[in-house]
Amino acid sequence: MCPPTFFDVREPKNPHMGLAIDRVRAQHQWDNLRRSLHDAGLKVELIDPVQGLDDMVFAANQVFVGEHPERGKFIVPSRMRYPSRQKEVAFYVEWFRQRGYQTIELDLRGEYLEGHGDLVWHPDRSRIWAAYGFRSTRGGVGRFGAAMNKLGFSVMPLELVDKHCYHLDTCFCPLNAAAVLIYPEAFARPSLVEIHNGFNRVHPLSREEMLQFVANGIAVNGRFITPRLTANLSRILAEEGLTPVVVDTSEFEKSGGSVFCMKTFVD
Ligand code: ARG
Repeated sequence: MCPPTFFDVREPKNPHMGLAIDRVRAQHQWDNLRRSLHDAGLKVELIDPVQGLDDMVFAANQVFVGEHPERGKFIVPSRMRYPSRQKEVAFYVEWFRQRGYQTIELDLRGEYLEGHGDLVWHPDRSRIWAAYGFRSTRGGVGRFGAAMNKLGFSVMPLELVDKHCYHLDTCFCPLNAAAVLIYPEAFARPSLVEIHNGFNRVHPLSREEMLQFVANGIAVNGRFITPRLTANLSRILAEEGLTPVVVDTSEFEKSGGSVFCMKTFVD
């Protein structure tokens, strides 16, 4: 995680952005999320925030993290669509490099790829779901897919068609290897078919739930950390045997992100 010391909303990069943030409240909400991850049994590690990098708190976007059975842990650095966010990447790459991760550099000239905003491991690690359309490009996902195929990982491209779902993590959230939460209208038809082929239970969320970042949760160790608990989500979590943990992220939602975006799993 990256502390929200310099978090701000300056330039609108997605349709959720606009309102000014309250930094004291943001810090408090971030502290709560950190505590909830710790309480779920995770060890939280931090990267130093950098002045001027107002979105650096969204730790899900700067690199893709993976592990290869022989080659070990690796990252794939992003090429962020907005120049203001491109500067974040080097700081994250350095963090991982210092901890022994190999860096797989792709030739992303003319393309974009935004880390775990658009690239989500299937929970059993059998494949990577990779979305494009608003932030990552089809070509970026294509180059990523080719590199991952060489390592033996399969990549399933998904096309996003609703601008409020500018990242995959706004409309797609695996709960376990058999179940996923999605906002169906976010996807092009063939992509929706692939999601149904990939999961036994596809739980639809309403537009209202998607706009409230219900699809941006974190399923971990039998819990589901979410910014909001709707009746529909309660029912789904009960069916999947997950305990809801609600963490208010209203300040970060003003930037288009919630709990999923504010961390990256390092293994
Ligand atoms: N303001 C940030 C942006 O638009 C929010 C990023 C949220 N992260 C995410 N993984 N959805 O780039």
